[in-house]
Amino acid sequence: MGKAREINATQDKQTIETRVRALLERMSLEEKVGQLNQVQATGPNVVEDLAPAIRAGRVGSVINVVDPEAVKALQYIAINESEQGIPLLICRDVIHGYKTVAPLPIGQAASWNPDLVRDCARIAAEEASADGINWTFAPMIDIARDPRWGRIAESLGEDPYLTGVLGAAMVDGFQNSANGGADTLVACAKHFAGYGASEAGRDYNTTNIPENELRNVYLPPFHAALKAGVETFMTSFSDIDGIPATASDFLLDQVLRREWSFDGAVVSDWDAIHQLVIHGLCENDIEASYLAAQAGVEIDMISSAYERHLPELVEQGRLSMDRIDTLVGNVLRVKIRAGLMDRDVMALPEEPARMKGLNLVREAAQQSLVLLKNERATLPLDVETLKRVAVVGPLAHEPAEQLGTWVFDGDAERSVTPLMALESMLAGQVEVEHVRALETTRSKDRSGFEPAMHAAQAADAVLLFLGEEAILSGEAHCRADISLPGVQAELVRHLRAAGKPVIGVLMAGRPLALGSIIDQFDALIYAWHPGTMAGPAIVDVLFGRASPSGKLPVSFPVMSGQVPIYYAHKQTGRPASPETVIHIDDIPSGATQTSLGMTTFHLDAGYKPLFPFGFGLSYTHFDYSDLTLDKAQILMGERVRAEVTLQNSGDRSGTEIVQLYIRDRFGSVTRPVRELKGFQRVSLEPGESQRIAFELSTDDLAFYRRDGSFGAEVGDFDLWIGPSSTDGLHASFRINA
Ligand code: BGC
Repeated sequence: MGKAREINATQDKQTIETRVRALLERMSLEEKVGQLNQVQATGPNVVEDLAPAIRAGRVGSVINVVDPEAVKALQYIAINESEQGIPLLICRDVIHGYKTVAPLPIGQAASWNPDLVRDCARIAAEEASADGINWTFAPMIDIARDPRWGRIAESLGEDPYLTGVLGAAMVDGFQNSANGGADTLVACAKHFAGYGASEAGRDYNTTNIPENELRNVYLPPFHAALKAGVETFMTSFSDIDGIPATASDFLLDQVLRREWSFDGAVVSDWDAIHQLVIHGLCENDIEASYLAAQAGVEIDMISSAYERHLPELVEQGRLSMDRIDTLVGNVLRVKIRAGLMDRDVMALPEEPARMKGLNLVREAAQQSLVLLKNERATLPLDVETLKRVAVVGPLAHEPAEQLGTWVFDGDAERSVTPLMALESMLAGQVEVEHVRALETTRSKDRSGFEPAMHAAQAADAVLLFLGEEAILSGEAHCRADISLPGVQAELVRHLRAAGKPVIGVLMAGRPLALGSIIDQFDALIYAWHPGTMAGPAIVDVLFGRASPSGKLPVSFPVMSGQVPIYYAHKQTGRPASPETVIHIDDIPSGATQTSLGMTTFHLDAGYKPLFPFGFGLSYTHFDYSDLTLDKAQILMGERVRAEVTLQNSGDRSGTEIVQLYIRDRFGSVTRPVRELKGFQRVSLEPGESQRIAFELSTDDLAFYRRDGSFGAEVGDFDLWIGPSSTDGLHASFRINA
């Protein structure tokens, strides 16, 4: 680490550019194209299979080789047997952990804890780099407002600000503040851009995002990642306004290079250069290569189109050598800045101590849990008074499922399941009876209902572990109906008849639509897929050894048909309000159209989510009071300081995530009804109170305006500080010219 820091310190911009130019001068066209070529490792003879191409300088990066001996052998060939001796980028999707798995990104986002998110990325980097991996395809910072889209699991939720802050923390963790050390991974901001808006929440689908919304909602997290020093970007599979992202000169050249001055590398998504042909944007791989290279894709992930066609495009004079040099220079710059050219990449760092990772992901899992409901203080459970619990459901003891999606290397043997944790942590105190009841969350066989009922009747409380297996979310795993799969809802209703407290722990890769079942739970914890240490984290919270502190990073719909539903929606000209909403069951017979509220709502679902963005309960109670602003009016360039008193008025210690929202009351383009602009995690003992301060500058209130420029506008603003996106104390201020 010390050595790496020294290397970086001496690597000023000029030195790096001199090194890049010197390399380019020595390289043949074939070798240059090699740096743009990413190949995959398949089959048992990876080294033998890839050796000739690497030796010839025709490969710059290799995806999916995780055997450290194979990595070392490949790096050896690249460094010692190829003419230029340039090390390889060895890439892998290390998304939320490597062998030790942290909660899904959407779960980590529920912690609203950038330090913790950074630490999770750090430990993943330490574990993965020990196997020779030096590049991860994370963070995924696509704004995800449609939970039908399976990839919402990998996202940091619906909000640009929260996603930006947490995405930047992940970048910093993987790259360890870009120190170029052996235990770091080059990070990759993906998918640039707009992928989360895939129509109907169906993966890979077309997106329709007007430029103003693209700039105000979808692009800001990528800009935040860039400011955090992310070295690479990945293009999105999707098209916007008729142009697939992999050929979008608007996104890759105009925004990324010209406006943001990005000087790292862009990688296509898997086979996405070839898929330009399938999109119907061009006729063949030659044209696809031309379009991607012109737009600014440096690295071709596995389609081999670049390798096959870039040389001829240069020979035909369609692509200039300058263009090729720019692309290759961007890749070389990443390799230099990541320290690959200066350290011995065959000397792999030690794997970190296992306990370090386990302790961290346990803490992360605990902070990712969101308490959605807790009637009559059902939770926490009391080991002193509880004699027996029934543990029911297909997800109580599934070491692999609790890891969630994108865990190629996750070691399920390390998993501690809720059942294991309940049995070991309650041994000698509380009896645990486990009935699976359903084979999977999708099963429709009800024969397990009766044994579950017996267990419920014999117990003091029923703990139901339900939700979705890992396979039901993630890439290419989308659902149109996002209610609880199979007959799980029936199982809940069935067990309710036992008359015992029904406590749900739902594990899933997306917000589920719980409107029709929520009333059946006395208490409900939303656990996402919590990772390796799901069990201890959940038991800690169930039994009050820790107070839940998670808050939703995404809105929960009442029913599937409401999506997309998100807090930062526009006001519209006809906003809904409780007085204007009517339910389909209440429409009087013979009513005419005009007797209904003429506002924006659904007859069967109203207009509110079941649980709003930012929502989450605690075992204690927090009071907000005395919101003050230091100024009621500010000028452009000035700041306003908002302060509030937060008191823990309950009788347990706890952590509150204090949220600051604003609304720009009118603008040259319509503005969201609320926007998150800050948050703080605050831990308080019972009775303790603290004054919490936020500072907002007019830059924080800037947005892309009607004329395309970026800046704040004069006018009135609302400001709220509170516990969620639909709550809080209110104040207002004005920006004057
Ligand atoms: C995904 C990317 C991923 C890549 C490499 C693609 O299918 O969209 O997010 O990084 O595969 O595995």
